[in-house]
Amino acid sequence: MGKFEEVFRIASNWKIRRSFSNNLPFIILLYGILFLIFAFMNIIFITGGSKGIGLGLVKKYAAEGHKVYSISRSITDIENVTQISVDLSDVKATHHAFKMLFDELDTIEISSITLVNNAGRLGTISNLENIATDDIAKTIQLNTTTPLVLNSLFIKLTQKLSCKKQIINISSGAATNPYEGWSIYCTSKAAIDMMTKAIAAEQNDLENGVKCVSLYPGVVDTNMQTQIRSTDKADFKNLQRFIDLKENNELYTPEYVANTIYTIDTTNYLDSGAIFDIRNYQH
Ligand SMILES: NC(=O)c1ccc[n+]([C@@H]2O[C@H](COP(=O)([O-])OP(=O)(O)OC[C@H]3O[C@@H](n4cnc5c(N)ncnc54)[C@H](OP(=O)(O)O)[C@@H]3O)[C@@H](O)[C@H]2O)c1
Repeated sequence: MGKFEEVFRIASNWKIRRSFSNNLPFIILLYGILFLIFAFMNIIFITGGSKGIGLGLVKKYAAEGHKVYSISRSITDIENVTQISVDLSDVKATHHAFKMLFDELDTIEISSITLVNNAGRLGTISNLENIATDDIAKTIQLNTTTPLVLNSLFIKLTQKLSCKKQIINISSGAATNPYEGWSIYCTSKAAIDMMTKAIAAEQNDLENGVKCVSLYPGVVDTNMQTQIRSTDKADFKNLQRFIDLKENNELYTPEYVANTIYTIDTTNYLDSGAIFDIRNYQH
């Protein structure tokens, strides 16, 4: 059932119940309120929504009534979320899937539209000379090229929309800290931050440009951290710090990170072009 039909159905039921009182102004008011509640949607696309931080974001935004599209390779058991299975390191498949999603949107009824570039990988952890060529290419593809492609499409496909439009790039403290063993990951995240600043510069002067921010989520209890802790000490000098963070219960949960990002987003806490570490968020 479409949203307008839903509004009509609910309003009609009320109308029947109250028809004896012939209260026309009340019925008109009710139609108006229901129209406002149901007519306009907040749309959000989240890459890597099947696990970790992405899954936390998917659950939070869905619970807050957003229309959520999750894009990852695997599908998870979550209700009220449209999940699309795509390998985001396949640029053609990614382009095709994202374009198809937009073709299906009813753009007249959108009050805000957001893209969260969250899917990411560390790749093999070791000094650069030990990393296989394919692994280097795969990490840069997923962490940097795919967000560039999706951001380009998002900006182009939302050009005619006058609603709130924004890109949230999930970056990392590794964008500014040169961790030994993470040279490719650090490079990919530094690129994400410059992407954010360049997009903001391009969009800022446009009448209805896209807002773009980078967020550092802190150290979060996900599969990525499990991979870090299982690395050989010879390949990662900082290993003990991450083991200690887990043992001392100092990792953020994906739920905490998702709630904080949701608040930062919906309170317009940041200006476009901001690079922000959520550990500095003042509640
Ligand atoms: N965890 C941390 O401490 C931490 C710290 C700083 C920054 N970050 C950043 O936060 C983001 C999320 O990390 P996380 O810790 O939540 O990682 P995670 O638990 O490993 O989840 C990664 C997500 O990305 C998706 N993904 C990976 N490769 C993909 C591909 N080729 N195609 C489609 N989807 C793919 C995975 O889904 P499928 O496997 O189903 O495809 C999964 O949903 C990343 O950008 C990461 O760099 C994490």
